Amino acid sequence: QYDATPYLPRRGGLAAHRRAATDCQGCPLYQDATGTVFGAGNPSARLMLVGEQPGDQEDRQGKPFVGPAGGLLRKALREAGLDEDQAYFTNAVKHFKFTVAARGKRRIHKPPSLREMTACRPWLAAELRLVDPEVVVALGATAGKALLGPSFRVTKDRGALIPLAEGRAQGDGTRGAAYDGAGFVVATLHPAAILRAEDRETPYAGLVSDLRVAAGALA
Ligand code: URA
Ligand code: SF4
Repeated sequence: QYDATPYLPRRGGLAAHRRAATDCQGCPLYQDATGTVFGAGNPSARLMLVGEQPGDQEDRQGKPFVGPAGGLLRKALREAGLDEDQAYFTNAVKHFKFTVAARGKRRIHKPPSLREMTACRPWLAAELRLVDPEVVVALGATAGKALLGPSFRVTKDRGALIPLAEGRAQGDGTRGAAYDGAGFVVATLHPAAILRAEDRETPYAGLVSDLRVAAGALA
């Protein structure tokens, strides 16, 4: 059974959790990645953005959303009237999962499994509790499932304000990382998926319009 729980500190704030996460071996993903990429940003943010997992650049630099997907996300945040410097950025899974291209050394992103996401969820739950944001943006399916449970679907659930507590009320036994704070989740597309799309314009406009929903809830 993969599980990060034994690696979480019993007490302490965000800094203590970030330190402890450095040594997490709750699932096999720590073996090949450079290191844990814990959340970063404003520790008392009203807005939290949750991605899937760090990418190549994030793994090298040890910070979330510093690569191309992060660049696109920050541009979309500005367009939606949200201040990136006030936000907290993190991922559902804290280690980079990849395969190495047959020739050369290029590391290609691989989606994390449900088991890996579930193993890593205690870190996300701790971040939710400690940052206690008012609005959480779930970027893509992995983040959506981590926050709202496995029946979450981006196509069905995106762009609406979903009370975080609903994640606990789904009754499917494997609840999301929802915490007791009153807050909302807004689900949207993952910026990395937009970068991979042939036509980026339509999904990018969708990302901005979903982020405007989050901005409206914070206003
Ligand atoms: N994609 C993510 O989901 N998270 C990052 O930090 C970077 C890219
Ligand atoms: Fe721990 Fe998460 Fe990394 Fe797995 S992905 S080793 S659970 S921090």
